[in-house]
Amino acid sequence: MKRLMMALAFASLMACETKPKQEESSAKSEGLTPVELATVHYKNMMKVLDDGEFPRSFEDGDFTTSSSEWWCSGFYPGTLLYLYESNGDTILLNEADRMLALLEKEQFNTGTHDLGFMMFCSFGNANRLDPTPAYKEILVHSAQSLASRFSPEVGCIRSWDSGSDDYIVIIDNMMNLELLFWATQETGDSTYYDIAVTHANTTMNNHFRADNSSYHVLNYAPDGSGVQEKKTAQGLSDESAWARGQAWGLYGFTVMFRSTGDSVYLAQANKIAQFVMNHPNLPEDKVPVWDFDAAPDAPRDASAAAILASGLLELDSYVPDQGYSELANAMLTSLSTNYLADLGTNGNFLIEHCVGHLPANSEVDVPLTYADYYYIEGLMRAEKGRR
Ligand code: GLY
Repeated sequence: MKRLMMALAFASLMACETKPKQEESSAKSEGLTPVELATVHYKNMMKVLDDGEFPRSFEDGDFTTSSSEWWCSGFYPGTLLYLYESNGDTILLNEADRMLALLEKEQFNTGTHDLGFMMFCSFGNANRLDPTPAYKEILVHSAQSLASRFSPEVGCIRSWDSGSDDYIVIIDNMMNLELLFWATQETGDSTYYDIAVTHANTTMNNHFRADNSSYHVLNYAPDGSGVQEKKTAQGLSDESAWARGQAWGLYGFTVMFRSTGDSVYLAQANKIAQFVMNHPNLPEDKVPVWDFDAAPDAPRDASAAAILASGLLELDSYVPDQGYSELANAMLTSLSTNYLADLGTNGNFLIEHCVGHLPANSEVDVPLTYADYYYIEGLMRAEKGRR
């Protein structure tokens, strides 16, 4: 059976390789489901992806890629694995395996806090679908590397390396904690669990404003004497509510509740969800403008909608009476209706109209690899909810 599957996979891979590049041109209108559309987009992307590169975006007509060190390197293999999980297409699995081999070395990267994004979205999914000792070892090493950035004095994992008087922690870092919970479950070593809980508690105490929105960047005193600065890097202003930051917080505190069962985290996730849901600037189609304090006609960030939708669907499973699944489904419906790219466009990414880093004039109104990942994850969660 396995040999037959491999032979079929090889045959279809070869068929795929002999096809001219980009020959499937316009099929959004041909009645493909989003997963079918994504599969064709990603098969087209495979053909134009240079060896050793990871997809990132499509900007000014250029397909932009990165090395494995970039924080987004896990999303392409992760998306391929979600699509494979949906449709069993082994071409996607083979490509994911190729990328995992390139990504593997990042398990020893202690220079980034993004190991959760990079390794858990990729190897975490690979191990979930096909648990193997090799994947487990890579994930445990990744958790060790992430934990090496924890300071007991500050009570947080350091996000960005900077001057010796600084200790920078960004709200996005909540997304890396799931890897630590997995590591404790797998190894029985509670160190990872304790670090995740301490990081989340410190973040909960300091990162949030009275209206339950969060700051993007906090600069702590490295000696543990407290917060030195509260500011932004990717938002409109230090006091604004950067849309993707709110999405990372909502998703991250929902995972905290799943991983600990502590209702304090559920309460925090609820507060963030209420902030988003009731925000007067949330557009009618529920796809946020890139910052909740930006002008209504400023660029949308579809990546924020994708992350929020997926996070809200999990949150709804814990508190089903708050309208979160309705909001998540409205977001997914908008993305599926108005933000999916036609084949042969958008650099072969699925979702259009995202914002990476507007203040740096980088990745504005473009596709982003993580928008595709969380959109597909959200669709799969919605599908599971319907079953
Ligand atoms: N973690 C970086 C971002 O959300 O853009």
